[in-house]
Amino acid sequence: MTRLNIVVGITGGIAAYKAVGVVRALVLAGHDVHVVPTEGALRFVGRPTLEAISRNPVHTELYEGVAEVRHVAIGQAADLIVIAPATANSIAKLAAGLADDLLGNTVLASEAPVVIAPAMHTEMWRHPATRANVETLRSRGVTIVGPAVGQLTGADSGPGRMEEPDEIVRAALERVMGERVSPVSSVAPRDLEGRHVVVSAGGTREPLDPVRFLGNRSSGKQGIAIAEAARARGARVTLVAANLEVADPEGCDIRRVSTALELQAAVTEAAAGADVVVMAAAVADYRPAAVSEAKIKKDQSDDGLTLELVRNPDILAGLGHAPHSGTILVGFAAETEADDERLLALGRAKREAKGADLLVVNRVGWNEGFASDENRILVIGRDGVVVTRAHGTKLSVAHDILDVVVSQVTTAAHAAQSTKEPESA
Ligand code: C5P
Repeated sequence: MTRLNIVVGITGGIAAYKAVGVVRALVLAGHDVHVVPTEGALRFVGRPTLEAISRNPVHTELYEGVAEVRHVAIGQAADLIVIAPATANSIAKLAAGLADDLLGNTVLASEAPVVIAPAMHTEMWRHPATRANVETLRSRGVTIVGPAVGQLTGADSGPGRMEEPDEIVRAALERVMGERVSPVSSVAPRDLEGRHVVVSAGGTREPLDPVRFLGNRSSGKQGIAIAEAARARGARVTLVAANLEVADPEGCDIRRVSTALELQAAVTEAAAGADVVVMAAAVADYRPAAVSEAKIKKDQSDDGLTLELVRNPDILAGLGHAPHSGTILVGFAAETEADDERLLALGRAKREAKGADLLVVNRVGWNEGFASDENRILVIGRDGVVVTRAHGTKLSVAHDILDVVVSQVTTAAHAAQSTKEPESA
């Protein structure tokens, strides 16, 4: 699926709290979401919430960011604008083409399709002024989703309630993709319901002294995407997080670690009885033999420094070589090998050596892999078979990996079941 740049405009109505669900569903579907709330919207839902859920800064001020011409830049870059909720007032402003705030400017500066989800009291929705404004927008090609009929904020009910977030997202994506889009809930099938998935993510840091460490460039994005995808598919997720450079995913039990030994302790504890363990973290193979209590000083008489390193335990291999029936073990191999055949051969050897059920191989380099939002992977299964290849956002790749995991979990469950069943005479 293409990663879209989507602006979500939020205007000042009670339903603004439900807009968080719209933003979240679009982010989980792998899109880059920029929220533009009106001042009124921020009375109902806070900027930190919107920034955390959208994973992007949130601006409202027309006169901020003037140097980067923000009032037109956001709209020009958008592939789609979704306004939810759209109040009667904001619909009137859109119909009149007013640009007295950042959202109005964004809409006028954009050629992207616009989808709005009206929300207001029934009388306001039925008012001839609103009717006329809605018709004006419709005639300009704006898609109107809802409003639904139901309980409104007060004791009254009728048409005016904002459509449910999943439906708004489905309609909005359908509009921009020009084809039927399956409901958001089916983007993430609930096929890991009742399962416990452990994911390690990030990169370990091995201290040299109180201010320095040996680390690596892993941002943790792919591991987090796997944790999020597993959550969306209904799993209970334990995330062993090593120095993440991105926001924590929601709804996961997070165990923070820093060194390889801490990660080993946390993963080993969480892995007991887990259905799936995904080792996406980049774990240091070596750590300094001794950690200095004081900051290591430059020695003026010498121009070199030799560090003594000792091997860290291989956590994945430790799990892979211990009996782990019923637990699917997934390893990662980030390799700089340029040749496809040799990359595959390295992956096959690594899967075998570590005793993993699946090994996800991706190529990394100075500009490839780590901090990027996209990934290209292949997954090697038992017997060295390439079970899948995927390319796309880290979230869509996460779902592709979990598709393979789910098929193996199901097979493992069947195998466990059939060994329990008494033999027929
Ligand atoms: O050997 P290499 O570091 O390439 O293996 C990568 C895989 O092994 C990853 O899944 C990583 O999380 C895991 N690993 C580990 N313990 C280490 C080194 C790597 O579990 N000490």
